[in-house]
Order: sequence, then C-alpha cells, then structure tokens
Amino acid sequence: MMSFRAKPARCAGSLLIFTFALALCCAFGSSAAGAEFLPGEIWNDTAGQPINAHGGGILYYKGVYYWYGESKSGSTFLPESNKSWGGTRVDITGVSCYSSTNLYDWKNEGLVLRAETNSPLSDLYPSKVLERPKVIYNRSTKEFVMWMHIDTPDYAAARTGVALSEKPTGPFRYLGSFRPNAGVWPENVTDADKIPGPTNSLARDFKTGQMARDLTVFEDDDGQAYLFYASEDNFTMHVSLLTADYLHTTGKYDRIFINRSMEAPAVFKCDGKYYFIGSGCTGWEPNAARLAVADSIFGPWRELPNPCVGEHADTTFGTQSAFVLPIQGREDFFVFLADRWNQWKLPESRYVWLPLEFSSTGHFTLRWHNSWQLPTDAKNLRAAAAN
Ligand code: DGJ
Repeated sequence: MMSFRAKPARCAGSLLIFTFALALCCAFGSSAAGAEFLPGEIWNDTAGQPINAHGGGILYYKGVYYWYGESKSGSTFLPESNKSWGGTRVDITGVSCYSSTNLYDWKNEGLVLRAETNSPLSDLYPSKVLERPKVIYNRSTKEFVMWMHIDTPDYAAARTGVALSEKPTGPFRYLGSFRPNAGVWPENVTDADKIPGPTNSLARDFKTGQMARDLTVFEDDDGQAYLFYASEDNFTMHVSLLTADYLHTTGKYDRIFINRSMEAPAVFKCDGKYYFIGSGCTGWEPNAARLAVADSIFGPWRELPNPCVGEHADTTFGTQSAFVLPIQGREDFFVFLADRWNQWKLPESRYVWLPLEFSSTGHFTLRWHNSWQLPTDAKNLRAAAAN
C-alpha cells in the first residue's frame, strides 16, 4: 500500500467539504479518514518497498492505472562533463511499472524495459541517460507505445527513444532513438529562423533533426497524439504530431514558448482547452512552475501566472512537474504529479502529487497539502471552486 492507510475514504463532493476533509487529515494525521496521499513522504508499494518510478507518467487502460517511471538505483555520481551544472546521474537500470485500481495501492509489475548491460553502443547501456518515460495506448494498432528521453551522459545527444509492447506490463521492445523532424521546418517558422547563426539551433539542426530532451506525449480525444519536447538547447519547446501508429513524428510541428527555457512538460485538456504545466531549466534544482493554456494544441499558448500559491510556491513546493493525471469518470478533476529530486542521492527522490484546483480566476491552482484524498464528485468540487 502506498503510504497510506487502509481503505479509500468517501469524500463529499464540494470544495467546502473537500477542504474540511483535508483539514481533518492534516489536523489528526491519522488513518481514521482512510487512504490518503502524503506528498513528499516515502511511498511504498503493495509489497512494502519504496516505489521506484521517477519522472514518470500514468496510463489508464481497462480499469487499471499503470504508472511508468525511471527506475533509479545504485550510487549517484557527477560525471566530469556535467560538473559546471551539477548534472548528477545514476546508471540506467530501466523503466519500472506499477499498477493500481484506486491510485493508492500500487503493485510492482517490475521493469518493463531493461538496461542493455552487454551492448556499450546501445541507447540503453547503463552509462547512458533514459528519462521521463511516457506510455500511450494506440487503439488502432492495439499496442502500447513508450516515448522517452535518451541521451549520452553529458546530455549532448538530446534524442527521443521509442519502445513498443502488446501488453501494458511489457516487456517493451526498444525500437531506437532519433532526433525529431529532420529536414522539416516548423509550421510557424519565420524567414529569420532559417538563417544559420551561432545562436540558431533550429537552423543548425534542420538537417539532422531537432534536439529533444524532456518530453511528454498527449493523446487527444480524436486519437491523434502529440510529442512535446524541450528543443533548441532547451530554449524552445516543440509540439509535434505523431504518426497514426504513434511511433514517429510526422514533420508537422510548431515552436512554442520560444526562448522561455522550459522543460518537464505535462499536458492535459479540460473543457476543450489545452493546458500545459512545466518548469524552468535549473537542472535538478526546483523552480517556479509554468502554466499555459491554448485553444489549439499547436498554439498560440498563453502563459498564465504561477499556478502554485502559498509557501514555497516559487519552487513548486520543492518539486518539478512530471505528469498531469485526469481521473477517470471525473472529467474535471486532475492530479499534478511531480518529483522532488534528491540531486546527490537520486534514488531517494520523492513523489509529490497534488490536486489541481480550478480557481475563481478560471484557471488551475496548486496548493500544498500534507495529506489529501481523492474526492468522489469532482464536478461539484470544481463548480464550488469557480463560484
Ligand atoms: C531536469 C530535467 O527535467 C530532468 O529530467 C533531468 O534531465 C535533470 N534536468 C538533469 O539535471
């Protein structure tokens, strides 16, 4: 069981009662109210072991949530090449998967993609970098597709990797890595963008493909899927339509958040609008979350104020975004999933999940909770918050 305490509670569905429930949990810190999320504490799986799924994402499939993330174990070290920016790392062990039907109790399904310890040239060789795995299900091909950030230890390669499985619990077959959209200009390119220059990485990488570091994938209601990736030396993000099989980028892409230096993308949709939460680029150090909204996935994206309020809002409560989870059957309730990185002991990084509250400004707000529970009626929750 994940943190947490006995069976899930039945919360009432108004903000008032939800807040009251939170207050009770905080006040008593007891198990009386049932299972709860304890952001920043050690979260154990159903076997009593700490959950090991960092920088991850969650897929809902046939009544089960599958949580995929970076398995981080072994010692943390700082390669010579990364000394100037504190880029510590651990060797790749693989991508882990946990399953749950209630989001509180997580069963370890093991490593669904493993390091390739015998192939020094492989992207999955332990000395390489594998981060932020995200899995989506393709209804047409009936396959599970994993996208991940693949890199060399100095983060210079900046590539996307893809893996495929017939089952959510793997094993995933690694297909390889590439830099997206080689030989294609983005839809919103300008003439000036095409002129090569010392600071123009878009033009520099035109032929060989665009840099891709932190990433996420988002499946829209119509089944089209999109890859968001931090590109152009992390200065500018790209959003790219994926092919129908979700295995490649199509060449249809846009530059977004130009020169805003954003990473850790998480994307979700609410009431026909697209929302983005990400971070600035400060390595493992936390910074203020970035929230944005758009009517079209290709933009224009409008940045909104920092969604976090209260103490430590300027560091996203000491975390960095990983994913935003829509709760099934509660179409307007979303959970913000973030990592609290431990730079010098990366395997001891923690998880911080918080409810995204729809604020009276018409946008989403994140508040710290020492503990909280899923409400049972998110529709009422949101209506109450908007009034
Ligand atoms: C921030 C990124 O979001 C993480 O995924 C990781 O790449 C670290 N930087 C490395 O410093």
